[in-house]
Amino acid sequence: MPCLSALLSDTVQAAFTAAGLPAELGQVKLSDRPDLGQYQTNGALAAAKLARKPPRAVAEGVAEILDGDPRLAGVSIAGPGFINLTLTDAFLAAHVADLAADDRLGVEAVRDPQTVILDFGGPNVAKPMHVGHLRASIIGDSLQRLFRHLGHRVISDVHLGDWGYPMGLLIAEMARRRPDLPYFDAGFQGPYPADSPVGLEDLEALYPEAAAAAQAEPERRRQASAATAALQSGRPGYRALWQHFLDISVAAMKRDFDALGVHFDLFKGEADVDPLIAPMVERLADHAIAERDEGALVIRVAEDGDKAEVPPLILEKADGGVMYATTDLATIVDRVTAFDPDLVLYVVDQRQHLHFEQVFRAARRGAISGHARLEHIGFGTMNGTDGKPFKTRAGGVMKLQDLLSMATEEAEARLGEAGLAADYPAEERAEIARLVGIAAVKFADLQNWRMSNYIFDLDRFMRFEGRTGPYLQYAAVRIRSLLRKAAAQDLRPGAILPPEAPVERDLMLTLARLPDAVAVAAAKRAPHELCDYAYDLAQGFSRFYAACHVLSADDADRQASWLMLAHTTERALDRLLDLLGIAVPERM
Ligand code: ARG
Repeated sequence: MPCLSALLSDTVQAAFTAAGLPAELGQVKLSDRPDLGQYQTNGALAAAKLARKPPRAVAEGVAEILDGDPRLAGVSIAGPGFINLTLTDAFLAAHVADLAADDRLGVEAVRDPQTVILDFGGPNVAKPMHVGHLRASIIGDSLQRLFRHLGHRVISDVHLGDWGYPMGLLIAEMARRRPDLPYFDAGFQGPYPADSPVGLEDLEALYPEAAAAAQAEPERRRQASAATAALQSGRPGYRALWQHFLDISVAAMKRDFDALGVHFDLFKGEADVDPLIAPMVERLADHAIAERDEGALVIRVAEDGDKAEVPPLILEKADGGVMYATTDLATIVDRVTAFDPDLVLYVVDQRQHLHFEQVFRAARRGAISGHARLEHIGFGTMNGTDGKPFKTRAGGVMKLQDLLSMATEEAEARLGEAGLAADYPAEERAEIARLVGIAAVKFADLQNWRMSNYIFDLDRFMRFEGRTGPYLQYAAVRIRSLLRKAAAQDLRPGAILPPEAPVERDLMLTLARLPDAVAVAAAKRAPHELCDYAYDLAQGFSRFYAACHVLSADDADRQASWLMLAHTTERALDRLLDLLGIAVPERM
């Protein structure tokens, strides 16, 4: 079913055409001045120039044509020529009834589904997932859900960091500590041990120690680079050791992602495209797209009109080692071959913007990306109260796992304070706390325009009032409980009647906006649009419910209509929270 703004745009565009004006100027949007009208069109202002008439006169001409429309209760003109539209209550109610009867709540699937690859998450082997990866995962997952809901064919890929210098750093460090291991014996005939010489904790401790040592000693950096190049060129012992690192890390990552409720179609990494690198590099060199520069192979990507310098992309270092950008380019080759995508979205920290600009330009120059549109979906940082990227109290990176336990604990405490879930079985209560904790963290992240930085404040995220995940979960749960109480008295949702009370009309108008919110969120790749709308809807319902006493209404038809509004609101909140990756407990 078409959404209300589209229906009204059709009507007003037809009126523009009838008035001899370009149809596209008749685009209708929500009113900026709800006191004057519910929807508005500003097209008369632009049309005035073409028609060489004063804008008000143009607006009056259009208004006259619209006047007879049975769906419109009022057409008025404001200011220099804004046309304000108010719907009849009967039309509004009929529209919301259609939406309520629709499985998709009025959100139409796109007519031209695209193949969309979503690259997000991006944790690195041997390093614990930290809050930066948390943002990528939360935002990426929401976009994955949103695009899928709109009917696109979505393929999500975690794109592990498993092939760069940090791998060589770890191998060099192990060689130093355990030179006796067969991985370092060039003459070893195999097979290599099936069990890893290190566990997850050793591995996580190894990386920062090795990194600090390399920072201090150039010789160690040289060794790490050499080990990286040897790994990449296939030295069997290094590969075998690396495979252990990979297996241990991936198991831990999968556990973390599961806890967060984030899933990927592909769990591929940089290393997976290793076999594609040599042929790609050769082709780029043959076509003179890659050139030698001081021993390294680079692609020049600066363009006329660049405001800041865009340095060449380094494809291959002088020692043969490949870089982050190289694996990203080879991954495009891989994805284009496997999926022929229309769109690839990279949900990655905005601080990597230059990297993606280089990669995208090189992909275009090298004709690597097929017809795919490549987009970097950047985001800002999650900061501590000191305004710097969030750290633990001890100053280290906060592990995702620890962050989630902290959130669950805080949620337990808050449920207790609010007297929620008090007499439920311990197991159910623990599960509710877990869901509330995750909702708090996810919503707090998603409700900001993704490019903004925000301050991590669990205390604020966890409140049951205001713009929070827990508030919205609770709003949905309360409506469910209302519907259960009604059902227990044999009261069921029924036909939606034209609104009488202003809060009832407002709730209907808000419900009718759902498809617009979803469309805008997808177009801007901006889940915060869903958050804003979900909050408006919950607030609208709460105002409605305060004024319209559903359970004690004396008119049975009105009561059934109200129950249908409640039911539809609850479905909408559930749907929106699901698009945000937030699950709603059955009860709280
Ligand atoms: N592993 C990278 C990091 O931690 C993120 C990967 C993002 N995706 C990509 N295709 N480069 O910074």
